[in-house]
Amino acid sequence: MGLLIKNGTVVTAEVEFKADVYADDAGKIRSIGLGLDKASGQDDVVDAEGQYVMPGAIDPHTHIALPFMGSVSCDDWYDGLVAAVCGGTTTVFDFVIGSKGQGLLEVLEPWMAKASGKAVCDYAYHMAVVDWSARIESEIAEVVRRGISSFKTFTAYKGALMLEDEPLFRCMRAIAAAKGILTIHAVNGDVLNALADRFVCEGRTGTDVHHLCQPAEAEAEANYRAIKLAELAAMPLYIVHTTCDAALKEQQTAVARGQEVYCETCIQYLLLDDASYSLPDFEGAKFVLSPPLRKVSDQAALWKGIQRGTVHTLGTDHAPFRFKDQKPMGKDDFRKIPNGIPGIEERVSLLYTYGVATGRISMSKLVEVCCSAPARIFNLGGRKGSISIGADADICVYDPRWEGTFSAKTQHSKCDYNCYEGWPRRGRPSSVFVRGKRVVKDGQFCGQAGFGRHLERPAYKY
Ligand code: URP
Ligand code: ZN
Ligand code: ZN
Repeated sequence: MGLLIKNGTVVTAEVEFKADVYADDAGKIRSIGLGLDKASGQDDVVDAEGQYVMPGAIDPHTHIALPFMGSVSCDDWYDGLVAAVCGGTTTVFDFVIGSKGQGLLEVLEPWMAKASGKAVCDYAYHMAVVDWSARIESEIAEVVRRGISSFKTFTAYKGALMLEDEPLFRCMRAIAAAKGILTIHAVNGDVLNALADRFVCEGRTGTDVHHLCQPAEAEAEANYRAIKLAELAAMPLYIVHTTCDAALKEQQTAVARGQEVYCETCIQYLLLDDASYSLPDFEGAKFVLSPPLRKVSDQAALWKGIQRGTVHTLGTDHAPFRFKDQKPMGKDDFRKIPNGIPGIEERVSLLYTYGVATGRISMSKLVEVCCSAPARIFNLGGRKGSISIGADADICVYDPRWEGTFSAKTQHSKCDYNCYEGWPRRGRPSSVFVRGKRVVKDGQFCGQAGFGRHLERPAYKY
């Protein structure tokens, strides 16, 4: 069965234009133009009059069923990806994260098994390196051969995920030799631990100090260091969840010098701020993530970065932990609150409501940061992230006329709260397709567990 979407406004990262889109029964886009006729009576036909026809979004940063800080993020590969597609996202990148002492392949194989039979849309992986050994070094090239050409390291979470500078640099050189790209969580973990211990010694154990342990300058310092090490290792660097003006400035200095540095921010850093940490009744725990929410002035810097093109991608860092029984692990000590918040379903509609509908950014910019740039940076260009001939028919028909609110009551994530509870929402994905197959109809999920495939990606050519 083919797919014909008629009368919509097609949006690419460059332009918007009125056109019909036809995809064949192999799920590939075959024609884009005015007045296309359906090829057979079997085709799925959608009238998208008054709606946008955009590429299915790509979330470059998710943590599905992540074992972390003594708990496991509460969306599995079915629930998390149902939430994704209902929010217009048709490809997710998940981080494969093991523990110190483990080899990469030893972690990767069971991790990949978690998605099979469950994923409702396509997915790819970034392989985390949380330790360094001859064994890990020897496995890097094999991971790239298996189609995972992006890696992840952390400069924080000391004792668990953090790499010190020497192993970090060795790791960078090995990834560069295998022609991979490195993504990095860049906040100074030593500063963080020292400040956190100090607060606890002073009896300040509540959520109101979470963000004070990871000041913007600790993020900027780790950005600078990671950027310099990547320059020495002669490799591209992708900095995940950038939160603040100070870190952006470090990145922009490097880019101005000609270094290949990519900036990701996440939707929460554009819209939420550190006042949330002072909420009463442990409510601040709902917003405990790392790096923390920042100042309103940092939000403004990130919006400007999106407008000017110095922020390249927008992810979610979707890492949901329930308020009822997971966040309370740190009730008496904020250091033990599982770090992470949900957002996989809300990202596109939030960016539309508070970015496009407010006139901050164009619809093409939304497509650029949520679809095209993640595809291009992570070697999925031509396949995902664009409405173009030969690309997978991963398509989100976004209805800007729909009005509602964000709420835990209507979300698909298994998390028991929504960071944007009651916030007005403009528009929603009315129909969503993955490789031409319908997964959302009239805003409701109608896909199939196990339809999603792992996307193998080639090595880089730098
Ligand atoms: O708080 C967060 N972001 N939790 C997930 C792990 C990470 O650092 O991305
Ligand atoms: Zn992180
Ligand atoms: Zn993350």
